[in-house]
Amino acid sequence: MRAWEIVSGDGVDSLELAERETPTPGPGQVRVRMHANSINYRDLTTIEDPVSRKLPFPTVPNSDGAGVVTAVGEGVGLSPGDRVTSCFFEDWTAGEISAAAMASALGGARQGVLAEEVILPEGGVIPTPAHLTDAEAATLPCAALTAWHALTLPRPITAGETVLLLGTGGVSVFAQQFCTMMGVRTIVTSASDEKLARMIALGAGETVNYRTNPDWDAAVLDLTGGKGADRVVEVGGPGTFDRSVNAVRVGGIIGLIGILTGAAGQASPTSIMRKSITIRGIYVGSRAMFADMNRAIAAHELKPVIDQGFAFEDARAAYHTMRAAGHFGKLVINI
Ligand SMILES: NC(=O)c1ccc[n+]([C@@H]2O[C@H](COP(=O)([O-])OP(=O)(O)OC[C@H]3O[C@@H](n4cnc5c(N)ncnc54)[C@H](OP(=O)(O)O)[C@@H]3O)[C@@H](O)[C@H]2O)c1
Repeated sequence: MRAWEIVSGDGVDSLELAERETPTPGPGQVRVRMHANSINYRDLTTIEDPVSRKLPFPTVPNSDGAGVVTAVGEGVGLSPGDRVTSCFFEDWTAGEISAAAMASALGGARQGVLAEEVILPEGGVIPTPAHLTDAEAATLPCAALTAWHALTLPRPITAGETVLLLGTGGVSVFAQQFCTMMGVRTIVTSASDEKLARMIALGAGETVNYRTNPDWDAAVLDLTGGKGADRVVEVGGPGTFDRSVNAVRVGGIIGLIGILTGAAGQASPTSIMRKSITIRGIYVGSRAMFADMNRAIAAHELKPVIDQGFAFEDARAAYHTMRAAGHFGKLVINI
């Protein structure tokens, strides 16, 4: 069987397609014939900089995959033929995240899923919603679950509240779809009017182009009658954080998710304190949250937005496309 491997710190073009032995599942494990992966910004940055992450070589990239069980080890309840999707963390079943769970992320501390056959613990996979193709299901483990987590904890957002979404990447598009499903109003920012029109088609309430209107936080305050958004799905990081603080209401919540503008920078704590804002660091989600999300996705027959699919042999092109940031929704590799 074949697997893509990170073998050096030389970036996307140094990824190698390797031939490996087909693995045999041990007790409590399943073998999954992967049919699709989706990629996340984090997979791209892992490939671009495996050295500072202290990844061993070779490491198989990617956390998100879906396919069919082809073999099971002793004591496993699943059967060959069952359709399953990978969980981002092998060891975060439910409850709060722990350091041990954090150290079980696929395509990072643990080997990833960009391979034809993958071994995973039974608790590290989840049944695929019946209405989804494997390509669609492969978009769920990271971006969708992160968006779901940001909207449902520390308390679920409720109908009639306003959520601010930054940009139109994988997390934000799922967040829009969930807000539409929940009857929640959104304000979406993007550098592209065309992408904003696509968000409106998905149910977005109002939009702000952050390129032509760099004071987008002031625009959000205007659009909420000066009050501010009830919640922010913050994917920008240091380059957007202070404006998100300005754009959220007194007593509002910011789900701190991403670093699209870079990892280093400064934030001003004073307004956070003065506005009594809750800042919540989010790292994807647990298997229990994934089950809750899949139940909602199945009930509403929600379909993920896939921008483009790539052939397995052409996996490098998927990461280059992500770096170019022209996509809307998810990029998928078909295996
Ligand atoms: N903490 C976690 O658990 C977790 C989970 C998933 C993702 N993340 C992180 O969240 C971030 C988003 O992930 P993703 O998978 O959604 O990425 P993505 O699909 O690559 O998102 C790219 C989009 O982000 C938007 N963007 C870039 N710079 C922006 C800015 N200054 N202001 C507003 N929007 C901006 C752009 O949208 P427009 O083209 O519309 O402007 C761009 O197309 C990444 O940093 C990722 O590492 C974290």
